[in-house]
Amino acid sequence: MNPRATPLVGFGAGKVILLGEHSVVYGNPALAGPLSYGVTAQGVASKRCQLVLPSTLSRPQKALLTRAFQRAAGLVRTPGVKVSLESELPLSMGLGSSAALSVACCRVLLKAAGREDAPREVARLALEMEQEFHGTPSGVDHTTSAEQKLILYKRLPNQSSGRVRALKSPRPLKVLVVLVGERSPTKKTVAALRERQARWPGRYGRLFQQIGTLAQEGAKAVEAGDLEALGDAMNVNQGLLAALGLSSPPLEEMVYRLRAMGALGAKLTGAGGDGGAVIGLFLEPEPAVAKLLELGVRCFSSQLAGPRAL
Ligand code: MEV
Repeated sequence: MNPRATPLVGFGAGKVILLGEHSVVYGNPALAGPLSYGVTAQGVASKRCQLVLPSTLSRPQKALLTRAFQRAAGLVRTPGVKVSLESELPLSMGLGSSAALSVACCRVLLKAAGREDAPREVARLALEMEQEFHGTPSGVDHTTSAEQKLILYKRLPNQSSGRVRALKSPRPLKVLVVLVGERSPTKKTVAALRERQARWPGRYGRLFQQIGTLAQEGAKAVEAGDLEALGDAMNVNQGLLAALGLSSPPLEEMVYRLRAMGALGAKLTGAGGDGGAVIGLFLEPEPAVAKLLELGVRCFSSQLAGPRAL
């Protein structure tokens, strides 16, 4: 393919974890789905492989992005392509912005090399970028983004890839996503939990297993179209995340608010901590979105849908 002829475009979806964040790191299943928002990468032919860096980023952030991009470009041996990015996702709020960016870039790099951008191939390459960003992620973020499907994901032992089961829901799954305060980096939250788990492995292992079971039950509920059962699993998962020390007063307050507004289930999504994203599963989220926006709350709704047309 000659990248000079048509600009190459790649999309990486943001993600929400409905059930199973953190316990997925320890090999338990997680239920996750793609947002209809994400990151779009555009590539045009150039002398060398180059990522156009958003001017709003700090110097260390720019260096990290460049390193991750060059690592992927080196592996694909892509002919020169200059890649620019456009993101609809808030950064570092638990919605998989780095995974979406990685997936979008990797799609363009693969296309520029004349290679197929099948989800598994994209995920394999995006992992190389994610490892620069996060060290050893479970792989659920970039896999959900690359697959662009609702999935039950189980990490393989000591790897950042896993077994994927795509799920079909007979009913639309609609979530309201609220951004609450500032969040501490995922790496920090994951490392702090790792310390507690290493100190009290039995206690934490039991909680992780419980969450894994909820993810499996949630997957069954999705396939049966039983959104009430899925919502209940989300509520119980939130309780267990709080028990693991991953919630905080602002997150809890929003969880209770969404439930009072009619959410079938509500919980933090992603790494949690001091702030981040809270999701509510709604039959119809729009009235709640309108009410929250009126009050100045940062939020949006999304259907956890399949591939979006570019
Ligand atoms: C972050 O979106 C999800 C975590 O479970 C970390 C991971 O899976 O690598 C907190």
